[in-house]
Amino acid sequence: MKLLISGGTVVNASGPVAADVLVEGEIIVGLCARGSAYSAEWAQGADRVIDATGQLVIPGGIDGHTHMEMPFGGTQSVDTFETGTRAAAFGGTTTIIDFAIQSIGTSLRESLDKWHAKADGNCAIDYGFHMAMSDVNKQTLSEMDLLVEEGVTSFKLFMAYPGVFYSNDGQILQAMQQAAKNGSTIMMHAENGIAIDVLVAQALERGEGDPRYHGLTRPAILEAEATHRAIQLARVAGAPLYIVHLSATEALQEVAVARDRGQSVFAETCPQYIFLSEEDTAREGFEGAKYVCSPPLRPRSYQPELWRGLRTDDLSVVSTDHCPFCFKDQKQLGLGNFSKIPNGLPGVEDRVSLIYQGVEQGEIALARWVDVVSTTPARMFGLFPKKGVIAPSADADVVIFDPNASRAISVDTDHMNVDYSAYEGLEVKGKVTTVLSRGAVVIEGDEYVGKAGDGRFLARGLNGYLR
Ligand code: URP
Ligand code: ZN
Ligand code: ZN
Repeated sequence: MKLLISGGTVVNASGPVAADVLVEGEIIVGLCARGSAYSAEWAQGADRVIDATGQLVIPGGIDGHTHMEMPFGGTQSVDTFETGTRAAAFGGTTTIIDFAIQSIGTSLRESLDKWHAKADGNCAIDYGFHMAMSDVNKQTLSEMDLLVEEGVTSFKLFMAYPGVFYSNDGQILQAMQQAAKNGSTIMMHAENGIAIDVLVAQALERGEGDPRYHGLTRPAILEAEATHRAIQLARVAGAPLYIVHLSATEALQEVAVARDRGQSVFAETCPQYIFLSEEDTAREGFEGAKYVCSPPLRPRSYQPELWRGLRTDDLSVVSTDHCPFCFKDQKQLGLGNFSKIPNGLPGVEDRVSLIYQGVEQGEIALARWVDVVSTTPARMFGLFPKKGVIAPSADADVVIFDPNASRAISVDTDHMNVDYSAYEGLEVKGKVTTVLSRGAVVIEGDEYVGKAGDGRFLARGLNGYLR
């Protein structure tokens, strides 16, 4: 099957170019200047031609941070691998990397197998796994090497959530030392969970149970402190470090200092920290619970610094940390006690469009948009050059995006399996019109035309930014 995408502007991280894209089977086999002799020849030989005139043709989005079917806070995130990956496809994301979660007392092997069983045969798009480690010990440290061989090449550790996922500094150092040996990347949830738990208990004792106290008991300075500590531990271990869901300018400053001295430190932020703020967590009544996530939403005044970080590469990636809980019955578990509100926001469907607003607003260049939502995550997580680029021999994961369309984000039109949108009513420029996953059209206009199980597990290589 030969498919030609003609008339569009192909945008890679290297920049835009007017070009046609030829796909054969699952692979991109050619790229040629629009109007060249090849254009006409390819059109004649194609089984199908998609007219992308006036549209952008970009490599499929790669969301390096999702939580489908994740048990958390006494409940479970509501998107399954089936619903979550379908919603991702609607939003122009063709690969997710989800977190297999090790719970205390279990091995990495059994935890990873559990997540394989959840995803296998259910995904609309390709997927990989990071391993979230909650129990760093002699056995699990040596298991890390086996996982790396199986293509799970990154490990998340938590300085937050004591008693659940938390690792102490000694455990973190040992995992980093292991990563330095086996070439994997340590990802860090950098918040000082021990200090936060004290502040939470004190707030609850004072009768401060509303959602906004979730944010007030997780101050930016405790994110910056943990970020600083993680960076120093990685320095001692000689290991690369990737800070997940960075929200605070104070933490960004720590990352910038480390990068300036040449340390292999990388960071992602998420759309919620750029488009939402502490004012949302402080909404009337219990409405703020919809916006409870960790780290928490920060003051609106932080947002220009996050855009600056994305522009200058202090922030390398935008992921979603998609971890959806319904307002009804799930977020409501924390009525009167914010510490019982399950932490997390939906967003896997919104990321590509939301970050495009940075192009419209003059915050980032078109090529940088593609870089932070696709190309850099592909390199960072060992998927490049199969993913993250429109080039011959890459997988034909292609998104056609109409920059002239506009729409309002709404739960009524979203496809995530959750009863609210964190961005309800937000007007956005641009719209995903067609999505190809390994050569197969999976989204056509507003229709999903793929099927569960089309997506394959991706055994990933090592971080492409390291020697
Ligand atoms: O609030 C959040 N971030 N929920 C998901 C779990 C995590 O820490 O990434
Ligand atoms: Zn986290
Ligand atoms: Zn997360």
